[in-house]
Amino acid sequence: MNVDPFSGSSLEDPYRLYERLRHDAPVYQLPETGIWFVTRHDDLVEAASKPEIFSSHISAIVYAGAGTNAVVVPADPDAIGAVDVLATQDPPVHTAQRKLLNRAFVASRMALLEPQIVALLDEKISPPLARGTVEWMEEIANPLPVSMIAGLLGLPQSDLGRLKAWADAGIDLLSGVSTMERMADAWQEMIGFLSYLRERLATPAPESITATIAEAVARGDLSDREGVSLLLQLVIAGSESTAGLLGSAARRLAEDEELQDSLRKDPARIPVFLEESVRLESPFRGHFRVTTRETELGGVKLPEGARVMLMWGSANRDEKAFANAGAVDMEREHPYAHVGFGSGIHFCIGAPLARLEARIVVQALLERTTTFRLSRGAPSPRHVPSVFVRRLTHLHLELISSGDASVA
Ligand code: HEM
Repeated sequence: MNVDPFSGSSLEDPYRLYERLRHDAPVYQLPETGIWFVTRHDDLVEAASKPEIFSSHISAIVYAGAGTNAVVVPADPDAIGAVDVLATQDPPVHTAQRKLLNRAFVASRMALLEPQIVALLDEKISPPLARGTVEWMEEIANPLPVSMIAGLLGLPQSDLGRLKAWADAGIDLLSGVSTMERMADAWQEMIGFLSYLRERLATPAPESITATIAEAVARGDLSDREGVSLLLQLVIAGSESTAGLLGSAARRLAEDEELQDSLRKDPARIPVFLEESVRLESPFRGHFRVTTRETELGGVKLPEGARVMLMWGSANRDEKAFANAGAVDMEREHPYAHVGFGSGIHFCIGAPLARLEARIVVQALLERTTTFRLSRGAPSPRHVPSVFVRRLTHLHLELISSGDASVA
């Protein structure tokens, strides 16, 4: 079978490739590499449910390479003073770290942030509404999530530009298609980021999540390195994926005025639409696992040390798991049963925050416009080239405003 997940067309539209893989080679080894793609829903859920065999420890980066075959580039976090935590940890360490942070992200606590998100959005969306146009990614989808996660961590709002640039560097490292020069730069940027976070951990803002982590370090429950690595992971995960969701949801609505109208009439259905958006354009296309021993998945033998990418974006379009998988279905029986937020012990800790942000943003966009659509004459929206994430680079929208003055 001849597939190239790193080609420009596969990166822009991976779904035909996923479909072929699900059909012909659901556990597919990239030729001459120790990398396997898992594309069927049931295989993926099975692997995610066995962390003792499919470990989340990753100390290498998959890279398209200069030739036709992908390569695995060693990237030991230890070399820059970081260490595997939470998303890249296994039980029992993962369990303890998750317990420490779970409370900080529960839905009831996130709900308290609603007025803050509304105010922030109001500030950001009012000028575009007055203008009648917006570059959605730059003005709303990218800055809002980074601002919210920085607030939760107690990081200064004056640092948002730097935080976003660092988050982008972290994502570029894992894109699989960055140039070697960009990889080297991004790696250096991670060193600067960690040293910034080390300072913040030493002087945490009171009652912030950074303070919770600093207290755990002081108690000896976490090492210093674990503390800064947790902060790094939260900034990157908290900024990137929600931006992806805000972009894909706005685009889908911009291309479907009927759907816009139905949600304007019945905003209580916005959360279901957002779950469909996460399912159809999973902001994290996939995450890696590495096998701790020889095993079998979907009838395929995997050696010890196999790097397995669980392709959430493909599993979410598996017709065997979701009828009418390629379309928004507002009547879906179990709209929350997708794997866009993961599956098993690593299920996204930030899902309540992401859902809240997205619900507020989409509701405001619908309430404060009579309609919106892709700007005529603007370049058609394209995605960041990456095997790891799915996020639009730009989204130019024309906003036909209702003339309302505020979000609330
Ligand atoms: C639409 C937005 C988001 C999506 C689609 C998403 C997706 C995911 C996925 C698929 C995983 C599972 C990773 C794995 O199994 O290897 C995950 C885990 C994680 N996410 Fe999210 N995420 C989103 C928002 C956030 C936010 C806002 C935060 C920040 C608070 C966050 C922090 C994390 C962390 C720390 C983990 C690791 C949890 C663990 O290992 O126990 N995510 N996310």
